[in-house]
Amino acid sequence: MTVRNLVLVGFMGTGKSTIGKKLAERLHWRFIDADAAIEANQGTSIPEIFRLQGEAYFRKVESQVLAGVLTGACQVVATGGGAVLAQENRDCMLANSFVVGLKASAEAIIDRVSQDTNRPLLQGNLEERVHTLLESRKTAYDFAHVTIDTTALTVEQIVEEIVGRMS
Ligand code: S3P
Repeated sequence: MTVRNLVLVGFMGTGKSTIGKKLAERLHWRFIDADAAIEANQGTSIPEIFRLQGEAYFRKVESQVLAGVLTGACQVVATGGGAVLAQENRDCMLANSFVVGLKASAEAIIDRVSQDTNRPLLQGNLEERVHTLLESRKTAYDFAHVTIDTTALTVEQIVEEIVGRMS
């Protein structure tokens, strides 16, 4: 496989965007936030897409946008936490990218996303939503080439670990 891109997958709040930006700087590659690309494509925010069109529509757009992004090269791509759910997305990521799974403890995730109102799937009882979704996605990120637990590591440590694993 010729590695054209580095793709970060993982549950919400595992650090994909923060680590992705630093990784891109480190590699001198372009950083792409797939959620931001979806918002640009639709001309509106993710909560609004969910509210007006529903999750199934969002997933369709997510697949299209991801496939488009992954035709490029030398990019670090932070995906949305549910982008791994469709087989076509996983196939597309594995086809030409080094896929890194990020994980974190439920407590760390809850702490990191607690101030955020932009995640439609976490509205309501946050703790209950995180535990339920984590359980239903227990093995969803296992297809990644490598997996790193971000709970107790600094961003710099995680970036160096990923760079080391790439070669
Ligand atoms: C989702 C995660 C979000 C975003 C959308 C759905 C999910 O991205 O794509 O709200 O299904 O896990 P982040 O993982 O960047 O929060």
